[in-house]
Amino acid sequence: MSPRIARTVAELRAALAPHRADGVGFVPTMGALHEGHLSLLRAARDDNGTVVLSIFVNPTQFGEAADLDAYPRTEAADVALAAEAGVDVVFAPSVAEMYPAGFATMVSVGGAITGTLEGAERGRSHFDGVATVVAKLLLAVQPDRAYFGAKDAQQVVVVRRMVADLGIPVEIVTLPTSRDADGLARSSRNTRLSPRDRAVAAAIPRSLRAAQDAFAGGIRDPRSLTDTVRAELAGLNPEYVEVVDADSLAPIAEVERPALLALAVRVGPVRLIDNVVLVPGLDDRIPLGPNGSDHA
Ligand code: PAF
Repeated sequence: MSPRIARTVAELRAALAPHRADGVGFVPTMGALHEGHLSLLRAARDDNGTVVLSIFVNPTQFGEAADLDAYPRTEAADVALAAEAGVDVVFAPSVAEMYPAGFATMVSVGGAITGTLEGAERGRSHFDGVATVVAKLLLAVQPDRAYFGAKDAQQVVVVRRMVADLGIPVEIVTLPTSRDADGLARSSRNTRLSPRDRAVAAAIPRSLRAAQDAFAGGIRDPRSLTDTVRAELAGLNPEYVEVVDADSLAPIAEVERPALLALAVRVGPVRLIDNVVLVPGLDDRIPLGPNGSDHA
């Protein structure tokens, strides 16, 4: 069955009013749905009586106007996929609905978690944009559970902090990064990679896998782990490759508890991010398919 399309918060609330008792699951997206989003929708479908998908390319989280303009917009195809995934309501507001004239309030998560990695590279304003739109979406949908992918690991840390600090009554559910057969993390931006860039981008999961191999072999020094990644990415000149504490995102001297190994790199016109969590005592390596160079 086709989902109901709500363009305004009032339409959304009216559509959800009769269904709140069975639990509302919410998957916020910027559209251009791929298998990663579908896995979030499947989890939401399993856990809740009603599933809401939002499609909104949020201007306040983009630094470069060119990136915002180039972001893929494929609403008709997204709604068709949403129907197959059993979504009940698609919330697809306009920019004016989310940011009406006179809009003047931003949600800003401070501290180390927004100052490092993506925050250092793109500026804290990126996460101000994310926190503001996610807060607005959560207030509009008022879900019981909201689902996020682990590819945007820092976003998840920021959203969890905001939800705790503002006392927003929602459970944040994080699902593992969805990957293609060669290990590349699925992203709406991947559609902008040429076939040649796509082949080059396969070095990203290989580099993370090499670090996971080193970690499984007992390497705990962040510098050795990031050097391993950089060696695999030779020629790609990553914006950052860092190992930080998985919860606080603070720098660490050695991996003694769960750590986030995160990177950002430009391939052709596209900026890609990826990460793995390194957990002492847990071997959870990225499987690299037939075109990757799996040596497990
Ligand atoms: O991860 C995304 O797609 C976006 O950052 C989100 C959470 C939908 C907010 O615009």
